[in-house]
Amino acid sequence: MATAPNRCDLVVLGIETSCDETAAALVRREASGKGVILANVVRSQLALHAEFGGVVPEIAARAHVELLDVLIAEALTEARLGFDDVDGVAATAGPGLIGGLIVGVTTGKAIALARGLPFIAVNHLEAHALTPGLTHGLRFPYLLLLVSGGHTQLLIAKDVGQYTRLGTTLDDALGEAFDKAAKLLGLDYPGGPAVEDCARRGRAVIALPRPMHGRPEPHFSLAGLKTALRHEAMKRAPLSDQDVADLCASFQEAAADVVADRTRRAMELYADALGDEAQKALVVAGGVAANQRLRAALAEVATEQGFTLILPPLDLCTDNAAMVAWAGAERLARGLADDLAAPSRARWPLDPDAAPALGAGVKA
Ligand code: KG4
Ligand code: ZN
Repeated sequence: MATAPNRCDLVVLGIETSCDETAAALVRREASGKGVILANVVRSQLALHAEFGGVVPEIAARAHVELLDVLIAEALTEARLGFDDVDGVAATAGPGLIGGLIVGVTTGKAIALARGLPFIAVNHLEAHALTPGLTHGLRFPYLLLLVSGGHTQLLIAKDVGQYTRLGTTLDDALGEAFDKAAKLLGLDYPGGPAVEDCARRGRAVIALPRPMHGRPEPHFSLAGLKTALRHEAMKRAPLSDQDVADLCASFQEAAADVVADRTRRAMELYADALGDEAQKALVVAGGVAANQRLRAALAEVATEQGFTLILPPLDLCTDNAAMVAWAGAERLARGLADDLAAPSRARWPLDPDAAPALGAGVKA
């Protein structure tokens, strides 16, 4: 639904419930395009899911129901605002776990209806993609590497609503691969931080494959890396602490190598597509962006290819509602809002025109 572009300051309430974080935030978008976070409240459900070694969708949805109203009230209090000060309500409508999405979208629509406000159905991937506009005032275009527990994508962000997907994963997401590696080595959930911590005591001396390395299209495949790790672990069983540390270090090294190689390829395609005059900026978002080894590998590729590396602060790299409010404000400023029939969508690719990477089974 298009309305007239809005040239005033806008305050938007954002709601995020697509996975295991319940979050509410208020963001102001000034007429100049500058963003200011007025409140950003996040509750992780980590403790609820830890004993299951992963997110349980029904438990997540129930927790969102219980927490969301309280968090919205907290966000308003923190920002010292009432609903009268809000110009729009944005909720993540996909992609994600459908039960949680419905909780956030229904709450957002109810507030919008009751207060006579525009509602914006936000794509979670677009919210990640637009974050550097909020944190760094970054202008389009730029290259985005999104690496989280659910997504592994390389995208060109050309403008709000205009994305070209260059690469995606054929199987596991990068964070998922870290989580599975941790599980098979007997480490805690979530696995990424546990693997990184353990890798500090290890040596990257165990040979593991670099799936998709050197392929012309910057896609990823991570399931084989995890299987190779399992073989190496079985060969060495029973594992000493040093074995586990060496396996972690070797896995992390292989993952960082693969991401650096795939990103280098995406940088070449970015320059081919947009020309040498285009701004060369690489933005990294998602929980795996916390990994220091990965950051170092990406910094090296960025320097080599003449790209500026932009890492939003970690609390805005992982799931949060400030990014949802900001994406909503960016859309509203351009006269884009949705009607109350907008659906929640478990799958919602940012670039619907992207060819499937390898037929079925590709994560959107
Ligand atoms: O973006 P995020 O908080 O949630 C979503 O998946 O949407 O990302 C969580 C993922 C988990 O798979 C976690 O293991 C991974 O990010 N992660 C890391 C690190 N910190 C979090 N992976 C590698 N190294 C880390 N330091
Ligand atoms: Zn996310």
